[in-house]
Amino acid sequence: MTLWGGRFESGPADAMAALSRSVEFDWRLAPYEIEVNLVHLNNLVEQQIVGKEDGAKIKAALLELATDIGSGKFSYIAEDEDVHSAIERGLIQKCGEIGGAIRAGRSRNDLVVTDFKLYLIDYLLEVATQISELVKAFNLQAEKHLDLIAPGFTHTQHAQPITFAQELSKHSHSLLRDIDRIFDWLDRNSLSPFGAGALAGSSIQPKPERAAKELGFAGVMANSIDAVSDRDFAAEALFVLAMVGVHLSRIGEEFVLWSSTEFNWVKIADEYSTGSSIMPQKKNADVAELARGKSGRFIGNLTSLLVVLKGLPFAYNRDLQEDKEPVFDSVDQLLILLPAVSGMVLTAQFNKAVISGGAATGFSLATEIADFLAKKQIPFSKAHEIAGECVKFCEKSGIELNQLTDSQLLSIHPLLTKEVREFLDLTGAVASRSSAMGTAQKSVSAAINQLKKEISKADEAITSHRDHLSGIISQ
Ligand code: ARG
Repeated sequence: MTLWGGRFESGPADAMAALSRSVEFDWRLAPYEIEVNLVHLNNLVEQQIVGKEDGAKIKAALLELATDIGSGKFSYIAEDEDVHSAIERGLIQKCGEIGGAIRAGRSRNDLVVTDFKLYLIDYLLEVATQISELVKAFNLQAEKHLDLIAPGFTHTQHAQPITFAQELSKHSHSLLRDIDRIFDWLDRNSLSPFGAGALAGSSIQPKPERAAKELGFAGVMANSIDAVSDRDFAAEALFVLAMVGVHLSRIGEEFVLWSSTEFNWVKIADEYSTGSSIMPQKKNADVAELARGKSGRFIGNLTSLLVVLKGLPFAYNRDLQEDKEPVFDSVDQLLILLPAVSGMVLTAQFNKAVISGGAATGFSLATEIADFLAKKQIPFSKAHEIAGECVKFCEKSGIELNQLTDSQLLSIHPLLTKEVREFLDLTGAVASRSSAMGTAQKSVSAAINQLKKEISKADEAITSHRDHLSGIISQ
């Protein structure tokens, strides 16, 4: 069914209809479309554009349609162009020509952007819930490894010893920022475009503020042209989702590396691994690899929308129909990926002996020697050079720093007295970094406790946003 026709002498060519059609992908907006229509109907009855009796009929038909959509009894057909025309067809089927009254005072231009925003509010909350599960998985694993000392890396080379709990919980912090970005998105984007009409507002919608409130928005947008043109909210959402995707990709890379035969730091559970069709011995870290691989499409989706928007004239242009698929794809993919990554993290078994064994190798305590000398007022550049000489000496003699004898130390520099040995101990070196954000067990444990508080605050905020939404939907 087309939503126009009066001035046309023929319907669209098949090729035109095929190009125009968005219903296969925008059908998921149907529940929000019904919600907006219900709110709009109240307005039409109040404005006496629709009589009370007809209003009751249309309302009953809309509610019935919502049930039929939920059960699959009503869906789109080949002739439907988009979700808006499909639902108008369904409404007219249920209550006759009067169903067409719903179109007064609104346009698909403000309708589509309102539906889309409502969808995003709903689904970003679901993404936030899934991220919170992953943070909890990392926190649990981190707490189990507070006593484990591991080599810390820079440039993928041994750098300094660290608490392994800190290595694991670093991910919780970046993921928590992702949740924060979702709340930030909600704060900024909770303004309703509904009432903008085609572009100029509508005399039949004198109180868009009320519809906004009934739809759960915090207020209305200030300029109707901006309201139908704005897709910043979709681009911002795609950035937020791409950032989550990039975090998952870095987690994936870490698990690929750690689970390799050469590293042997982690055993990924069978439930989160795959085998090979030809090599019976293989166990592959596919969750981690897909987490790394999918970041390509998250970044691509963001780029694709920004390119659609660049240079686009204001108010509605059909180009804007290209805004939804990238968003739906990023949301769908993250909702598939996040639970799998959480499962992989939660069930992973870390090989403590190999991890701690590596901490002492690679001269990771050389900085301690430099710090020891710096505390004796040797300029750090000089202290660094002397510590480097210790490393060179050990490398040549095939020993570790803590195997240097007192006389060898003194021969490298007279200030390298035997007290330096105290610092050439992994536990001591780690424990000495006890300031905020440091790697000492005490600091890491405090940071994890703080994380746990923040994640339960985030969970509460997600629930209260959700309660608010479901209240609106059941109206
Ligand atoms: N299906 C369109 C979209 O997704 C909405 C319809 C607006 N179409 C129009 N010709 N004004 O953007």
